[in-house]
Amino acid sequence: MSRQLIDLRSDTATRPTPAMREAIAEAPVGDEMLGEDPSVNELVEKAAALFGKEGGLFVSSGTLANQLAIKVHTNPGDEIIADSHCHPFRNELGASPFLSGVQFALISAKRGAYARGDAEEWLRPRGGYPKSSLLWVENTHNQGGGHVFPLEGLDGLRAFSQEQNIPLHIDGARIFNAIVASGIPPQEWARRCDSICFCLSKGLGCPVGSILLGEGAFIEEARRYRRMLGGGWRQAGVLAAAGLYALDHHVERLADDHANAQRFSELTAGVPGVRPVHDTTPTNLVFLDVSETGKTAHQINETTMKNGVAFSVPSPKMLRAVTHLDVSREDVQTAAQVLADSVR
Ligand SMILES: Cc1ncc(COP(=O)(O)O)c(C=O)c1O
Repeated sequence: MSRQLIDLRSDTATRPTPAMREAIAEAPVGDEMLGEDPSVNELVEKAAALFGKEGGLFVSSGTLANQLAIKVHTNPGDEIIADSHCHPFRNELGASPFLSGVQFALISAKRGAYARGDAEEWLRPRGGYPKSSLLWVENTHNQGGGHVFPLEGLDGLRAFSQEQNIPLHIDGARIFNAIVASGIPPQEWARRCDSICFCLSKGLGCPVGSILLGEGAFIEEARRYRRMLGGGWRQAGVLAAAGLYALDHHVERLADDHANAQRFSELTAGVPGVRPVHDTTPTNLVFLDVSETGKTAHQINETTMKNGVAFSVPSPKMLRAVTHLDVSREDVQTAAQVLADSVR
């Protein structure tokens, strides 16, 4: 009997549930570019209130949300202070220099969590240097194995950002994982930054969409650039309805994904040649170093794929597993077994 693929490549793999599809089908819609889509307006207002920000913008992806933030906060020739594994540096195809003409001052930080002292070292003096114009925080941290950025560390960065008048952006693609894992509510994260974005299309289980939040003038500028880049919507309420549904029904359940990721970490800990890259599994991301198996991560993944389990392969010696709405406890048990069989 053919089984459905256990897709651990990303939490973007989720499909809308029947109840979410019902919400989509019933969504009132209008022209979003004219500000007339009631569902998008409701979603954005709800998100802004939840995080305590003045305004919000519904966009197609986390990449677009990040790039709009960079575009508005910086000028060409400027520099962004960030950790060396941050998403816009690693995974946005050079969009930041391409679209905004900026470069990164990169900090080597354990699991993405850098401190005020690290940022201070990159603060450029006036004169023959680029302008340090944005502080970047990723929470939870993707390459950092779903690490939750420590709030005290963020306090230090926020104080620095305010003293130096450098805006701070949080790439919160998975901020709800951080919220659920830490118990620290949305507003506590958001009041420590100038702008924040989060993805509906990841752990929250929506087919499409991210939200960028910030003060009113920031959002108005972001809206202009969104349109320039072809990212304006028309009747996007069908997508926003999924977001509204997810904010009401899919936040608390992220704890299940975290428990499943933890279980997967435990089950794979004993597999010969497979080592966890990070010492803990705080949320829904697990990175495994498979270099001691004598096989490449690609080879192993090809074998697991044939047996119904897909990982992502961030490097030739690494596999990444991400738990989400469409992955059950039984699935992670099966996946761990398939992995163990595949490295033999
Ligand atoms: C931390 C982080 N930021 C941004 C993104 C970009 O999101 P999208 O794939 O919707 O462009 C991702 C995607 O995985 C991510 O992990």
